[in-house]
Amino acid sequence: MSNRPTSTTDAGIPAPSDEFSLSVGPNGPLLLQDHYLIQKMAHFNRERVPERVVHAKGGGAYGVMRITEDVSQYTKADLFQKGKETELFLRFSTVAGELGSADTARDPRGFAIKFYTEHGNYDIVGNNTPIFFIRDPQKFSDFIHSQKRRADNHLHDNNMQWDFWTLSPESAHQVSFLMTDRGTPKTWRNMHGFGSHTFLWYNAAGEKFWVKYHFKTEQGIENFTDAEAKALAATDPDHHIRDLHTAIARGDHPSWQVNVQIMPFEAAADYRFNPFDLTKVWPHSDYPEITIGRFTLNRNPVNYFAEVEQSGFEPSNLVPGIGASPDKMLQGRLFSYPDTHRYRIGANYQQLPVNAPKVPVHGYNRDGAMRFANGGDPVYAPNSLNGPVADPSLYAGEDYHLTGDIVRSAYRRHAEDDDYVQPRALWENVLSETDRAHMVGNIVGHASAPEVTTDTKKRVVEYWTNIHKDLGEGVAKGLGLA
Ligand code: NDP
Ligand code: HEM
Repeated sequence: MSNRPTSTTDAGIPAPSDEFSLSVGPNGPLLLQDHYLIQKMAHFNRERVPERVVHAKGGGAYGVMRITEDVSQYTKADLFQKGKETELFLRFSTVAGELGSADTARDPRGFAIKFYTEHGNYDIVGNNTPIFFIRDPQKFSDFIHSQKRRADNHLHDNNMQWDFWTLSPESAHQVSFLMTDRGTPKTWRNMHGFGSHTFLWYNAAGEKFWVKYHFKTEQGIENFTDAEAKALAATDPDHHIRDLHTAIARGDHPSWQVNVQIMPFEAAADYRFNPFDLTKVWPHSDYPEITIGRFTLNRNPVNYFAEVEQSGFEPSNLVPGIGASPDKMLQGRLFSYPDTHRYRIGANYQQLPVNAPKVPVHGYNRDGAMRFANGGDPVYAPNSLNGPVADPSLYAGEDYHLTGDIVRSAYRRHAEDDDYVQPRALWENVLSETDRAHMVGNIVGHASAPEVTTDTKKRVVEYWTNIHKDLGEGVAKGLGLA
C-alpha cells in the first residue's frame, strides 16, 4: 500500500477507477450505473459561478493590519485602536476585462479589503485611485457598458469610451489618472489603494468626523509604459496574479502604510469642494494625511476558486464606529454589492470561509440553498426565549440630522467645485515633464483607434483643453487635428 489517500466520490465512497468508465466489455458502450463517471461529468458542468459583472479578473491574499497610533478621539471602531492587529483578505482586480483578460490592461485597479474585526467584517472596497469617473450611481451601468463590448460585433470600442467620457465632464479627473502611467501599474504591490469615498467616523463620546483612507505602497510606485504593458498583455496576461503569488510564496511580503485624512463633521457644509463628491480629492494642504498603521500581505490562498473567486466584498459591511456618508455613489453601492453576491454566489455567500466573520453570527436569517450554519430556536424576534438581542448603544453617535426636498439634481455647488480644477492641479503641479509627455502619448494612442470618429476626436481635444491648453494642444497635434 502507498501512503497516497484513496480517491473517493463526493460522498466519500472509494472510487472504483480514476481512468476507466464502466463498459460492456473492453470495446462496449458505457453503463448509466457508473455513478462515479456521472458524478464527475455532472459536477464539471457546474464548475463555474458567473464571473463578476465588473472586476472579473483578479487575485488576492491574506494579511494583517497593525495600528500604531491612537485615533480613539476620532473612532471607536475596534480595528483602528492603537496596538490592534486585525486579519484581512485583499483582492486586487482590473475593472473592464473578463476573467481571462490581461492584467496589464489600461484600467483602474480594484483594491478591496475585508477586515475580520471583533465586531464582524468591515469591507473597504476601493480602487488604486482616490476618485471615480462619475458622481451619481444612476450613470454606473451606462459607464460600464461603454467600457465593455458593443452589442453588434461584441468588440471593445474606444469610440464608445470617449463618447461617454466627453459627454460626462465629471470623468475628467479619473480619466486623467487613467491616462498617466498609473493606468498601467507594474505590479499590484507597486500601487497605492484608496477607500475613495468619504466615510463617517464616530468616537465613544458620539463625536463625528469625516474620513478618507489612503493605503500607500511601501514597495514604491512603479508603472509600465503603454508599450511595456501591451507587450506583456500578449506574453504574460496573468503577470499581476503571478507577481503577487510568487512574491508572497518566497517570503517577500508586500506592505502598505495606512493613512487617513480627517475632516471635522461641521467643516463639510462649507468646505471649498463638496467633500462627498467622488470625483474630488481633499487637497493635502487642507487635510494632511496621518499615518496610523500598516498592513502586510503574508499568505496566499490555497484554492483560488473557493477563496478568491467566491470572495464577496460589500461597502455596506460597516462596523460600530464607522458609518456611511451622503456620497451618492457610496449610497448606491450599499445596495449593489450584497445584491450581486446573492445572485452570483448565492444567498448564503457569507457562510463561505473567506467571507465568514471570525466572530459568531447570531441572526434570525434562516435557510436558503446550501445553508449549513443555521441557528436553532427561537426563529423570530422579539421573543421571550432568550434569543439574541440587538445592542443599539454600539451605534450611538452614528445619527445626524438631514433635511431637504425630494429632487433629482446635481450636487449643490461648493465654492471651488468644477470638473477641471483638480485634474488641472494634477497636470500643473504634480506630473513631471516625462509624466505629461507619456499622458499625452497614452491619450493619443487610445483615441487614435480606427473606430474613433472625427467628431469624437474633436470632443476629445476639447475635453483635454478644458483641463489645460498645453494638454489640449498636445492631444490635438497627436490626433492630427492641430
Ligand atoms: P499634493 O502635492 O499634496 O499631492 C499630490 C498627490 O499626487 C500625492 O498624493 C502624490 O502621491 C500623488 N501623485 C504623484 N504623482 C502622481 C501621478 N503621476 N498620478 C497621480 N497622482 C500622483 O497636492 P494636492 O493634495 O493639492 O493634490 C493635487 C492633485 O494631486 C489633486 O488634484 C489630484 O489630482 C492629485 N492627488 C491628490 C491626492 C489627495 O488625496 N490630495 C491623492 C492622489 C493624487 P504619491 O506620489 O505618493 O502617489
Ligand atoms: C465590484 C457595482 C462603483 C470598486 C463591483 C461589482 C459590482 C459593482 C456589481 C461586482 C461585485 C461582485 O460580483 O463580487 C458598483 C456600482 C458602483 C460601483 C453600482 C457605483 C454606483 C465602484 C467604486 C469603486 C468600486 C467607486 C472604488 C472606489 C469595486 C471593486 C470591485 C467592484 C474593487 C471588486 C471587488 C472584488 O474584488 O471582489 N462593483 N461599483 N466600485 N467594485 Fe464596484
